[in-house]
Amino acid sequence: MSASSRFLIPGMLVTGLLTVLLVALLTVVRPVNSAQPIALDPAAVKAGKTTFLTVCAGCHGPQALGINGLGKPLVGSAFFNAHTDAQLLAFLQVGRPVDDPLNTTGVVMPARGGRLSLTDTDLSNVIAYIRSLNVAKAQPVAD
Ligand code: HEC
Repeated sequence: MSASSRFLIPGMLVTGLLTVLLVALLTVVRPVNSAQPIALDPAAVKAGKTTFLTVCAGCHGPQALGINGLGKPLVGSAFFNAHTDAQLLAFLQVGRPVDDPLNTTGVVMPARGGRLSLTDTDLSNVIAYIRSLNVAKAQPVAD
């Protein structure tokens, strides 16, 4: 073994180990979805509210608090808050049929809320609106 490789190999091992540690640390420390920055576009929230009230509220309630025997609550929803906007969009595109193992109500969550003419932008706006309701709920109420 040459003199340089005697130092080079342990050096590489240490560097590799530090990289692994750094990645592990970032994975643990990185805030999860619930802590994602909330920068809601007011225009998106407003447009999303209109779509929500016309398409989703019939099952999820006008305040997104759910309706027994129909849609689940979306405010304070662990499912909603644990997913990114992109994940929620992918969810809304397909909905959740009754034979989906994740379906707990035995009632279908229709693809695009049953309104197939809704574009991905419409759905993203609805997500922004529901986010705004969840953010509002998370704020401590001063009285
Ligand atoms: C015909 C009724 C109906 C309509 C309309 C509807 N949903 Fe749903 N939705 C449901 C039902 C029922 C579930 C719960 C299915 C299950 O048991 O997992 C659900 C579940 C969801 C969930 C997952 C909640 C969770 O905790 O798992 C989200 C998010 C959601 N709906 C969003 C929407 C949005 C946004 C719209 C409007 C674009 C919409 N829904 C329109 C019936 C509906």
